[in-house]
Amino acid sequence: MKNYRITVLKGDGIGPEIVDQAMKALDKAAAKHGFSIAYDQQLLGGAAIDATGGPLPQATVDACKASDSVLLGAVGGPKWDGQPGGNRPEAGLLGIRKALGLYANLRPAVIFAPLRAASPLKPEIIGESLDIMVVRELTGGIYFGDRGTEERDGVRSAYDTERYSVPEIERIARVAFDMAQKRGRKLCSVDKANVLDSSRLWRATVNRLAAEYPDVEVSHLYVDNTAMQLVRDPGQFDVIVTSNMFGDILSDEASMISGSIGMLASASLGEGGLGLYEPIHGSAPDIAGQDAANPLATILSVAMMLRYSLNEPEAAQSIEDAVAKALTQARTRDIYTEDSGCKLVGCQEMGDLVASLI
Ligand code: IPM
Ligand code: MG
Repeated sequence: MKNYRITVLKGDGIGPEIVDQAMKALDKAAAKHGFSIAYDQQLLGGAAIDATGGPLPQATVDACKASDSVLLGAVGGPKWDGQPGGNRPEAGLLGIRKALGLYANLRPAVIFAPLRAASPLKPEIIGESLDIMVVRELTGGIYFGDRGTEERDGVRSAYDTERYSVPEIERIARVAFDMAQKRGRKLCSVDKANVLDSSRLWRATVNRLAAEYPDVEVSHLYVDNTAMQLVRDPGQFDVIVTSNMFGDILSDEASMISGSIGMLASASLGEGGLGLYEPIHGSAPDIAGQDAANPLATILSVAMMLRYSLNEPEAAQSIEDAVAKALTQARTRDIYTEDSGCKLVGCQEMGDLVASLI
């Protein structure tokens, strides 16, 4: 029987609760489809700061590198807000992405049919269906550029730098072009080329590569316009490719269209087969420990893991089908509407329900 080694980074806030539900789903899918999972739990973020003093212990990096895939909850919380920037929980998350070379972040925004009423957009704007793939560059740009805080003549200032090289743009653009070829063959590259040099290089590079993908229709939008178009006519988008920071912002917006940020999964991939899978939402410290979180984004992240890293597409499908079915029976608070006829449930009960439907 095939056995996969998964490093689990539960993280902070609601991280442990949602990851527990995702592991339940993964175990059930493994049993059904004839493989097994060995988990190795490691520390990341605030939990790692508390235990070791830093947000990314070397043992965590080593364990991730030695595993088939990585499952992550979320990091951060007010407890660690006083930490210097380089020692915040978020620095651990950026550090592990960088250490594993995970430059391509896939964030699918899909609307599950039973959740149409949970979307803040009117049904006529959502249209028949919504299926957008945001491809976010994850190890470059302003998140990793030159930065600093300085004082000159008694005035303090701070700066962060957006920098992209041609190879960095090429490799993320290729991921997006390949993705578009497998989907609706439409690629929208998002930048701020009316203002930023880095965006002009981004746009020129995407345009040059476009010649190699004649079957993909390429368009370019400024990021401000994209933010507007996403709520005006989301159906126009198939694959969106963009920088680290723009992708961070636009994927939160796209998630809300699909009903709740608690629904969106993500995969972070690099050159090798190793991937890191996490919900796009944060650690939600305000509801941590209350059994109120929506575990579906993390459960759907496990489905992405089965598809992209472990090559178990049937198991992935089983989980996705179970989530779709669960949504017709039960809802966590963030996606609950009285007229849905569904039962209002907590994180654990939702996890149990999904597992029982696999
Ligand atoms: C995300 C998060 C992270 C990011 C934070 C927690 C550092 O917002 O994964 O979208 O900005 O990448
Ligand atoms: Mg974000």
